[in-house]
Parts: sequence; C-alpha cells; structure tokens
Amino acid sequence: MARQTIGIIVGSNRRESINRRLALALARLLADRFDITWIRIDDLPMYNQDLEVDRPETVRRFTTEVAALPALLFVTPEHNRSLPAVLKNAIDWGSKPTDRSVWRGKTAAITGTANGGIGTAAAQQHLRAILGDLGVTVMGGEAYITFKPEPVDGEGNFLDDSRRAFCRAYMDQFASLVARMTAPLPG
Ligand SMILES: Cc1cc2nc3c(=O)[nH]c(=O)nc-3n(C[C@H](O)[C@H](O)[C@H](O)COP(=O)(O)O)c2cc1C
Repeated sequence: MARQTIGIIVGSNRRESINRRLALALARLLADRFDITWIRIDDLPMYNQDLEVDRPETVRRFTTEVAALPALLFVTPEHNRSLPAVLKNAIDWGSKPTDRSVWRGKTAAITGTANGGIGTAAAQQHLRAILGDLGVTVMGGEAYITFKPEPVDGEGNFLDDSRRAFCRAYMDQFASLVARMTAPLPG
C-alpha cells in the first residue's frame, strides 16, 4: 500500500520557533512510516470575508494542500492562554465557505511547547475544541512539553531519553490512529 502523507502545521511565524524545532523532531519519529508535508501558514493574509470572491493565491495553496491530506499534526505555541492568531487565522481560512471546509473528516494530533511549566496546555484545549467543532477527529491523550530544559536541538534530535520516549509513544499512537482512519472499508 502507498505510504500516507501527514501534514505538519506549526502555529508560529517566528524564525527561531521552538515549536518548529519540536515539530522537526516529531517529524523524524514519523518519517519511517509516513511522508511529511510542511504546511505553511505565515504568509496567509488576515481572514476577510470580502476576499472570498477572489481568494488570494497563498490561501488557495494552503487550502489545496490541507484538502489533499488525510491527517495533520499541529504543533503550536500558546499566546495569552490560547492558540496564536496566525494559527486561528489559517483555521478560519480553511473553514470557509462552510460547505467546502477543508477540515471535515481529517484526523489530527495536537501538541506544543513553551518555556513555562504548563507547556501550552491552555492553547491545546482551545485548539481541540475548535477542530472538534470543524469535524476533525482529534486524537485523545495529552502532550504538553516544556522547553526548559530544551527537549530537542536545532536538527530534530531529542536531548533526553525520557522525553524522546514520551514523544515516540505519542507519535506511535497517532500513526496507529491514522492507519485505522485511512484503512479501506471491508467488503
Ligand atoms: C503574545 C505572546 C503571548 C504569550 N503567551 C504565553 C502563554 O499564554 N503561555 C505560555 O506558556 N507562553 C506564552 N508566551 C511565550 C511563548 O511560549 C514563547 O514566545 C514561545 O517561544 C513561542 O513559541 P515559538 O518560539 O514556537 O513561536 C507568549 C508569547 C507571546 C509573544
């Protein structure tokens, strides 16, 4: 069977994003089973319903990429106890027009990292609620990863065994969910 592709969306537009670093390490944990597509969101304009009549090229690229993928991994920072505006903006673009939402039926896992002790827990709860509302099957379980001490280097290598094992188990759980959700129906 052909390999499935998982899209990774990083909820940060920061050049030195620690969430992108974590996402790189998670991608490496999935790479033996899936192809990976990095989905860019930092170049999307602010959502404006007036632009719906002639959607900007970057928006069309984004929605086409998401629509083509069965599964998505969200790795997001927390901004003021919620998800960053850049990520919410991307989700909003993908959700309209409602009858052509690119989110419905996708399978997703959520994680994120921050220097603080709660490791993006509040942002992830908001993201889980939004995606659920949009018809995304969001994997159960929780992965709130503090960046102090740093769990990964800039090349996607884990720097300690316990967090590597924790993330490996979370990605294994995601891989198995994606396999079940994309398996052909019997008969
Ligand atoms: C506007 C803003 C709000 C923030 N709010 C939170 C927060 O609520 N919780 C938290 O843990 N960190 C918060 N932070 C700190 C971020 O965790 C930190 O900037 C982190 O590096 C962001 O991830 P990134 O490097 O992937 O962009 C905030 C940062 C910014 C710029």
